[in-house]
Amino acid sequence: MNAFNTSFSQWLKIKSLKPKANVLSLFDGISAGRLALERAGIEVGTYYRSEIDKFANKVAMHYYQDDVQLGDVTKWREWDIDWASIDMLIGGSPCQGFSFAGKQLAFDDPRSALFFVYVDILNHIKSFNPNVKFMLENVKMKKEFVEVINEYLGVEPIVINSALLSAQNRVRLYWCNWDLKQPKDKGILLRDVVENIKPDRHCERIKEGNEGHIATAIDIKGMDCIKRVYGIDGKAPTLTTMGGGHREPKVLISDVQYRKLTPTECARLQTFPDCWAESIVSNSQAYKAYGNSWTVDVVAHVFKSLVEVTA
Ligand SMILES: C[S@@+](CC[C@H](N)C(=O)[O-])C[C@H]1O[C@@H](n2cnc3c(N)ncnc32)[C@H](O)[C@@H]1O
Repeated sequence: MNAFNTSFSQWLKIKSLKPKANVLSLFDGISAGRLALERAGIEVGTYYRSEIDKFANKVAMHYYQDDVQLGDVTKWREWDIDWASIDMLIGGSPCQGFSFAGKQLAFDDPRSALFFVYVDILNHIKSFNPNVKFMLENVKMKKEFVEVINEYLGVEPIVINSALLSAQNRVRLYWCNWDLKQPKDKGILLRDVVENIKPDRHCERIKEGNEGHIATAIDIKGMDCIKRVYGIDGKAPTLTTMGGGHREPKVLISDVQYRKLTPTECARLQTFPDCWAESIVSNSQAYKAYGNSWTVDVVAHVFKSLVEVTA
């Protein structure tokens, strides 16, 4: 019997047997999903993961050697999977086409069109297990794009800002087929995650106080957004893949001195254990992986809600 493929009363009967969930994770990255399941107290039977980035795979495989590696999601018809055994489908399909920061080609962007592969796989699993639980995560996007996704999934998303559970502003949409409420604000600030490392760069104050965008880096040329320096009594901006050109978030350490956030501080902003990625791959690959990733505690909150509504 599938762990979650039960009615309420069936669930109560098998609960004492500690059912394990078989999970298919698409676009798995550095396995924030696997870590979040652990934090939510959901025991995993088999974890199937689809991911094509070799550095992300290296990180995930370091921690979870038993996971089944599936590679490219577009080859899903060739996968050797017992589809009827899948209890949960999770994934955050690439978001570049939806993001307000991009050209917003939406479903015409081949990366965002991978959403339809998620839908094909969901429908395939449903043909064996109509009660499969699913969760899709994506960026904040135009209402018309959200409506297309709603139509295909048959549910509306809940908007959660990771700032409730971490020191990072990161607004994301979560579609899932169980009840989901907002997490309680833990009040975590940048000062709770910064390491004791001296600043090495100069900036100019633009605002009093110690919260939000309060200074400008004077040693960096380029777009305004990469010169923003943040105060430790507020939140960090949303992590991006930070590919080159001083894109790492910057934090004010003394009145006129700042430094870039370290990979470990980025791990903390995404609520990973320290050094999760940077102990396995280079710093630049670690920055990229954290920028692509889910905030582990937010997804753990989403999964805990599943346990709460099922129990
Ligand atoms: C937004 S990130 C999701 C990261 C993940 N949720 C995490 O927490 O680390 C999207 C991921 O999709 C992966 N991806 C892109 N095309 C893919 C494909 N054809 N098959 C599998 N994964 C793919 C990218 O390499 C990237 O890691």
